[in-house]
Amino acid sequence: MEKKDLIHDGSSIKIWGTDDPDKVIIGFTDDITAFYKIKKAVIKDKGVCCNGVSCITSGILQKAGVPTHFIKKISSTEQLCHKAEVIPMEVIVRNIVAGSLALRLGLEEGLIPQKPIIDLCYKSEALGDPLINDYQALALNIVGEEDLREIYRLTRKVNDTLLPVFKSIGISLVDFKIEFGHLPDGTLAMTDDITPDSARFWDIKTGERLDKDRFRHDKGHVGDAYRTVYERLKSKYDG
Ligand code: C5P
Repeated sequence: MEKKDLIHDGSSIKIWGTDDPDKVIIGFTDDITAFYKIKKAVIKDKGVCCNGVSCITSGILQKAGVPTHFIKKISSTEQLCHKAEVIPMEVIVRNIVAGSLALRLGLEEGLIPQKPIIDLCYKSEALGDPLINDYQALALNIVGEEDLREIYRLTRKVNDTLLPVFKSIGISLVDFKIEFGHLPDGTLAMTDDITPDSARFWDIKTGERLDKDRFRHDKGHVGDAYRTVYERLKSKYDG
């Protein structure tokens, strides 16, 4: 598959067109940003780790019946994906209270809710990806009713599938953000990645943070944390 024009030049992800108009190449860089790019750094081999974690989790999700944009890994930092019409909405699943939810509701990080919480956010960096509810998402045409119902079903399936996977490698899947869209054949699919950039991973034994919070809160050893998640997943689920 030939790489063509760069169609998205994000800091941690780049997307290129290919000679097939329905397929793109997604590449993961070593750049890391936080707080809407106020904080930036380069973490050696972060791209390899994020692509690795993304490819393994996407493969597991597809086997479990969750459609995703992922086709195959093509290099250590790149994957071939279906091009998608992305729905401008972020879906956040929270199995353990942390981050913005803890701040917003004045809750202790680590609190386990009665059941997983699902938040919807309107995808707009300029507005800080604000929280929205189902009524707003539907009334403002951000997503259709049938798609929203299916997004909730698939989101629960993603969580139910990945919770035991991470548990089996000694990691709590605290929370994660995913997005959905339509593939060229119309299928509603997860058009996103689960990586330490977009999910919180806590070591079950030690409580050590193995995700972007290390960078957000200057805890150091960011690359080691990303590598730990990738190495543990790879040793159990690759190939
Ligand atoms: O910031 P907050 O605590 O709401 O984030 C919840 C989860 O969603 C975290 O794992 C975070 O990394 C991820 N997230 C993301 N992109 C956003 C917002 C949140 O990957 N724009």
